[in-house]
Amino acid sequence: MTRHVRTAIFPVAGLGTRFLPATKATPKELLPVLDTPLIQYAVDEAREAGIERMIFVSHPSKKAIERHVMEDARLTRELKARGKADIAEALSDAALCPVEDDARFVVQPEPKGLGHAVLCAKDHVLDGPVAVILPDDLILGQVGCLSEMAAAYASGEIGHLVATMEVPEDRVHKYGVLSVTGKDGAIIKADGMVEKPKAQDAPSRQAVVGRYILDASIFDALETQKPGAGGEIQLTDAIARGATDLGLGGFQFSGTRFDCGSKAGMLEATLELAAQDPECLEVLRARGLLQTRLVAA
Ligand code: G1P
Repeated sequence: MTRHVRTAIFPVAGLGTRFLPATKATPKELLPVLDTPLIQYAVDEAREAGIERMIFVSHPSKKAIERHVMEDARLTRELKARGKADIAEALSDAALCPVEDDARFVVQPEPKGLGHAVLCAKDHVLDGPVAVILPDDLILGQVGCLSEMAAAYASGEIGHLVATMEVPEDRVHKYGVLSVTGKDGAIIKADGMVEKPKAQDAPSRQAVVGRYILDASIFDALETQKPGAGGEIQLTDAIARGATDLGLGGFQFSGTRFDCGSKAGMLEATLELAAQDPECLEVLRARGLLQTRLVAA
């Protein structure tokens, strides 16, 4: 059986209530960090990992996501006609081509949770394990998080691999948290996972962030998954059910993760990238806001 990951699912149907009013008319996945929308970082990461098919599980009110990720031939022509060939080229390189790339847009009719969103992609996936990318979690580093995970997945035997990081005790209630049994290099072995536990009930401080590589049987598990935390169909619960039979691992990625689902995380990510941009760097210096640590060279 193949351990090669060919499909990536992007659950992007959420209403983005934490960012209102910014997200009243603009999908949260299109909010930019500096000049690049979150969804673009996610698509770039999937491309780098060699993903063949991208499935966006979206909502009819969020058509702008499709407009952003797909090539816009008219805009490209217009820019070229105005002598802006370099911008046209950059845009078209970043976009997915309707002929050469394999992108699908699926509707999640009701907000029934992350597990339900992933299930909506079931009929569109290619053979083998599937990746799930939550664009809210921006992970910056020398190597894309999904590339690292795909390499670890391909050479291992674990069925479900999730990206994890240690978080302080007072933050575990915001995450899926692993029940840790051991460690094998960059992989934390686990025999279960709990969605948003109270600090006193959390099995560990190893929190799941938005990158998953899941055995294809996840869809069968999701079909029968009962609602969990918040009354939603939780991906965490379906993963946990397969932990014993398939094996569950937490992957400790090398990059830095920014919680761009929150204002503070968005600001942090913006400062991080601003420090790498000569024009913005001047502003940071002038305001005494220069960061000493840079993620990417
Ligand atoms: C989702 C998952 C949670 C995970 C988190 C990472 O929660 O349900 O298990 O830890 O993403 O960002 P959300 O932040 O969408 O509530």
